Amino acid sequence: MINLQFQYKHVISFLSEEEIQFMQEEVDLSHSLLVEKDGKGNEFLGWLDFPAKLDETILTDIEAAAKSFREKAEVLVVIGIGGSYLGSRAIIEALSSSFPAIYNDTKNPVVLYAGNHLSLDYHYELLQLLDKKDYNLVVISKSGNTIEPAIAFRLLKNHIEKKYGYEEACSRIIAVTDGSKGALKAMAEKHGYKTYVIPEDIGGRYSVLTPVGLLPIAIAGFDITQLVKGACEMRKVCLETSSLTDNPAACYAAIRNLLYRSGIQIEILVNYEPSLHYLTEWWKQLFGESEGKENEGLFPAGLDFTGDLHSMGQYIQQGQRMLFETVIHIQKSRHSLVVPHDEANMDGLNYIAGKSLREINAVAALGTTLAHVDGEVPNLDITLPALDERSIGELIYFFEFACSLSGYLSATNPFNQPGVEAYKNNMFALLGKPGFENETEAIRDRIAEE
Ligand code: PA5
Repeated sequence: MINLQFQYKHVISFLSEEEIQFMQEEVDLSHSLLVEKDGKGNEFLGWLDFPAKLDETILTDIEAAAKSFREKAEVLVVIGIGGSYLGSRAIIEALSSSFPAIYNDTKNPVVLYAGNHLSLDYHYELLQLLDKKDYNLVVISKSGNTIEPAIAFRLLKNHIEKKYGYEEACSRIIAVTDGSKGALKAMAEKHGYKTYVIPEDIGGRYSVLTPVGLLPIAIAGFDITQLVKGACEMRKVCLETSSLTDNPAACYAAIRNLLYRSGIQIEILVNYEPSLHYLTEWWKQLFGESEGKENEGLFPAGLDFTGDLHSMGQYIQQGQRMLFETVIHIQKSRHSLVVPHDEANMDGLNYIAGKSLREINAVAALGTTLAHVDGEVPNLDITLPALDERSIGELIYFFEFACSLSGYLSATNPFNQPGVEAYKNNMFALLGKPGFENETEAIRDRIAEE
């Protein structure tokens, strides 16, 4: 049984129920392409069944490795970029307390990240911090050759070997990479790092429920069995039926396609919990890389409310009418906190004294949705009972399935990312990477002409 609820009552003034139900036939076709594995990019559909295939043995092995890393060090550095990083960060931050680096009563390691950009100062300061902390490394790269994590790993490998000596350093490194190829695989073999394999048929942005995400999430102290269980429950529903009434991912995919076809260009994923910021970053990659090709696709954006209502709220209410919002609601908070009564009432807040902050946040969400709908911004609602492993597992699989189905509904291959290579090629040419000699000459000429 799934607990995630998807509602579209706040689009009904923009799309009629008939228009939505009219999508059923198209959805049936795309659903069958996906579950029968007959559609574009079907060589990358491993994620569809992976959570159901994860048996006790793999999970127990990951949990044992996680336990030994947890006991060994107060800091874990996760090296990776894009699909090899965003998913684990999204889930770890969603489940963590708000200030893990300053106040951590769980004895679980604080997770830091590297190799997800090329900032000199960030990496320098990270190395300085690691001089003073006990730490382990998880390095994740499917290709094993991506330049940002490769540079970070070279820096950190050098640091950890100097700090602990070669043998001990090797026992503090786990590599997650391809089963047979790539520089990282070769290094892991040479140095004897413990290794987990990223299945060949699962692309980066669909890989969070493989060791790519499960290992760092388990080291951070979270229950990966419940996470996978949530994903499996959602998988059952998603695979079983294409009915717009019974399959929430199918319904979400259908409505966002209808809105796109009606001329809307931007989808904003909205949350009311700061810990969901990176969930939005993960979602942006998932949908952006899956649908943004051949000059088509909704532009996926994200906002953290209510904070961003004080910066972007004006645009959403009255700017160009080209957006819709998908709002994530969380029904239960981890703690209780009410607005206290104040005798002097100088701030005039006694009218909400005794009210829970959760209730006030929910009222803010409702008030905002109603205002935005009045401002002609359709809203979709996704509700989870709580921010726990089980619910997040459901949410992750919900988005992955919806994204693939949505890609098929717009006749796109949602599993490739041909455009990502363009910047890399220019960068390699400019850096003079061996094998790029012709490109280097061409790009230098072009720059000289500019
Ligand atoms: O979704 C994707 O394929 C990308 O975001 C990759 O995950 C990202 O480029 C990192 O690649 P790799 O894991 O090969 O280092």
